[in-house]
Amino acid sequence: MKILAIETSCDETACAIVEDGHRVLADQVATQIEIHRKYGGVVPELASRNHVVDIVPVVEAALAEAGLGLADLDAIAVTRGPGLVGALLVGLQVAKSLAWAHDKPLIPVNHLAGHLHAVHLHRPEEPAPATPGYPHLALAVSGGHTALYRVEAPGGPVRLVANTRDDAAGEAFDKVARMLGLGYPGGPTVERLARGGDATAHRFTIPRFKDGALDFSFSGLKTAVLTVLEKRGGFPEGQEQADLLASFQQAAVDQLVDRVIQATEEQGIEDVVLAGGVACNGCLRQTLRDALAQRGRRLFVPPPRWCTDNAAMIAGVAFTQAPAHPGHDAADRRLNAVGTWSVTA
Ligand code: KG4
Ligand code: ZN
Repeated sequence: MKILAIETSCDETACAIVEDGHRVLADQVATQIEIHRKYGGVVPELASRNHVVDIVPVVEAALAEAGLGLADLDAIAVTRGPGLVGALLVGLQVAKSLAWAHDKPLIPVNHLAGHLHAVHLHRPEEPAPATPGYPHLALAVSGGHTALYRVEAPGGPVRLVANTRDDAAGEAFDKVARMLGLGYPGGPTVERLARGGDATAHRFTIPRFKDGALDFSFSGLKTAVLTVLEKRGGFPEGQEQADLLASFQQAAVDQLVDRVIQATEEQGIEDVVLAGGVACNGCLRQTLRDALAQRGRRLFVPPPRWCTDNAAMIAGVAFTQAPAHPGHDAADRRLNAVGTWSVTA
């Protein structure tokens, strides 16, 4: 079954074609990073306007890459939410029009379910990756979300184990980068500049909640970095900058790893998935992999191109939902976007 998916929930305009939920026949992403960089973050209206410009060429490029026409597809999938509503509406309207004009089922997909699915994707010329058993835990860490889930079955129920009580992990990387005058997006820059830094130069503590919840919190860490900067005055550079960034990165990673390890032990779960843009971070991948391996547990992480926003992960989820969408119907024609939509609902 070949599904074409469209993803426009934030600042990437993406279209992909995926066969049977895992073989990626086409994967196109037009990124708007350069457009938003000068504003220090994503400007919602600019994101919507640029999706309108990029969406048709991106869909055309995906069809050309796969060597397929619209008639060859079994269904059209689209990210319905969560995300920026104006941005979502662009992808949704194009997906609705394609599904209506070509009489294809329209499959609405939750963006976070996409991130959790990304670990199953591969190119046809690559071997299928090893995939996690069920139930497994999945840590979704991006610019908008930081949550730990328990995934019960393929395409099955997802339960929330822990959530952030303030900022998302990616947001913390982006805000700290901004405080140091390092531009947007912060994550990749922080990781690069932290190399060679001494992660023990600053001792930032891991937050714990009195009620014993495994929830995350990054606002204290952000304030701790700000306090260092205020005491010092001005932006640090060179080794001093590397030391501060390495200490921040280690504290953020240690908190994420601490929660995952505790949850695997409490729930007796063997396999863990790491997903979302922050899963590109090498320090997080390595620290989590080592901590799990020491306890005889396994980590599954998608390649970086499927950790950040993409449409292949959306097409992948849609395959698991396809039986519920046997044909194009009236509900498809009235589908709307949703800004907030829990993956556990
Ligand atoms: O999943 P994603 O592409 O978009 C959202 O759904 O948010 O994630 C983007 C986030 C940004 O906050 C970015 O700074 C962060 O992922 N990120 C990283 C790295 N690469 C991207 N954070 C830390 N280290 C990285 N290497
Ligand atoms: Zn995302």
